[in-house]
Amino acid sequence: MEIVVAATYEDMARKVAELVEAWVVADPSCTLGLATGSTMIGVYGALVADYRAGKLSFADVDTYNLDEYCGLTADDPQSYRYFMKTNLFDHIDIDPARTHLPDGASSDAEASCIAYEAAIEEHGGIDLQLLGIGHNGHIGFNEPDSFFPNGTHTVELTDSTRQANSRLFNSIDEVPTHACTMGIGTIMRARSVVLAASGADKAAIIKAALTGPVTPEVPASILQFHPHVTVVVDEAAASELA
Ligand code: F6R
Repeated sequence: MEIVVAATYEDMARKVAELVEAWVVADPSCTLGLATGSTMIGVYGALVADYRAGKLSFADVDTYNLDEYCGLTADDPQSYRYFMKTNLFDHIDIDPARTHLPDGASSDAEASCIAYEAAIEEHGGIDLQLLGIGHNGHIGFNEPDSFFPNGTHTVELTDSTRQANSRLFNSIDEVPTHACTMGIGTIMRARSVVLAASGADKAAIIKAALTGPVTPEVPASILQFHPHVTVVVDEAAASELA
């Protein structure tokens, strides 16, 4: 595991974007696993800036997002599809048909999760998976549990995750109660992983995930067993690392 400490949020975002660009330039038809959330906004901003500067093309890239809320349609402004469109997809030359998220609007969420996992496998897997991390160590929507879930599946969101995400909704009552997420197995099968975090509020969980015991109570700790992980943290998020 390589740990890169960036000075600021902006610097972290730029370093993560450069890792993505290195993949896309080396293999223009690579497959990216993408995440949403505050950490990724700067990363996607840097990618859009570099695309506009002519540094790379996404025309042959495929993407699979980590997760999606259940019960929201793709055009709902709170959906992760909408987040991806407004922060990245609408500003680059990616083919919308090659961008994939779990189908949150499906009436059979479990079946659509199974289909999503099969689609990733059939496609040949993910080359580079981007991850943020929750304050409780979640990656995707894989919350602390007694086991590491394997494939894409539905989850009931914990109160703390709904509370954390409620900042983006009018009230906590509007935050969906369930989501579809890639499993820990899906994430671990990616050929390469970049975990990004910023801010002092992430320092304790970064320390626990990177240096503590590997346990499903801290889902991100499993990354200690992945052969190709780069962690990019700003100084505040790195402040509890020795
Ligand atoms: C988002 C996702 C989540 C976030 C995590 C950190 O698709 O899967 O695991 O990466 O909650 O979110 P931020 O970046 O908002 O702190």
